Amino acid sequence: MNRPGPAPRTPAMTSGALDTYAAALDAAVDPGSADDWFTRTQDGARHPLGADLRRWCAPADRVDRELLQHCPGAVLDVGCGPGRLVAELARQGRHGAGVDSSAAAVDIARAAGGPVLHRSLFDPVPGEGRWDSVVLADGNIGIGGDPVALLARCGELIAPDGRVVVELSPPGTGRRIARVRLERDGLHGDWFDWALVGTDAAHETAAAADLVVAELWRDGDRWFASLVRLEAAAGDLDLAS
Ligand SMILES: C[S@@+](CC[C@H](N)C(=O)[O-])C[C@H]1O[C@@H](n2cnc3c(N)ncnc32)[C@H](O)[C@@H]1O
Repeated sequence: MNRPGPAPRTPAMTSGALDTYAAALDAAVDPGSADDWFTRTQDGARHPLGADLRRWCAPADRVDRELLQHCPGAVLDVGCGPGRLVAELARQGRHGAGVDSSAAAVDIARAAGGPVLHRSLFDPVPGEGRWDSVVLADGNIGIGGDPVALLARCGELIAPDGRVVVELSPPGTGRRIARVRLERDGLHGDWFDWALVGTDAAHETAAAADLVVAELWRDGDRWFASLVRLEAAAGDLDLAS
């Protein structure tokens, strides 16, 4: 089976968007100020960001640890942010690394003890085609606003029998592309492209990236799927027949 050509590159967050994200991460160390932060979508709607900021900057919780149980072998955390999953992998003595385009997030993640690359996942990454698991947690399926291109890129990073473990939005969300920005009273960053993918759109989105949903599960109020390469899934079918 032919693999698709190299995944198309999607636009990176501008420095204006990254600076605002850095300010929001700064606020997360002060539980009160995290609640001053919101995401704004271009339709004008504003969504609170405080709880997410606090979770991203806290140690891994039970659901995170369970998620990592679904990620065997060497794990690459794409868009690792402040790095709680990478730190948890290190704590467990597992092989893992993060990659993130935000210098502020990378500084925090490195201080937390995990190996983290400061770059876009669309740039060359060590171990391409050899990672056992690539994880897209916390809505990171939205990175770049093109989930198919993102998953295709993650498909390039995993080993032939590897998997992409992705956090999804609840059923009924579908696949939505949006321009968003981070803001606080009197301050906002640049717009950037983002996306939401619900469990109901998981199969079609994976298929467009030559991946197959091998498992879909819910843990509390969070939803996840494990995606494998089409060839790996076809191999399993051959074995089963
Ligand atoms: C939802 S937030 C991070 C949540 C993160 N999983 C955590 O535990 O904090 C999305 C992250 O993706 C990163 N990001 C956005 N575009 C990226 C890209 N092209 N390559 C790598 N990281 C990217 C952002 O800098 C940000 O840290």
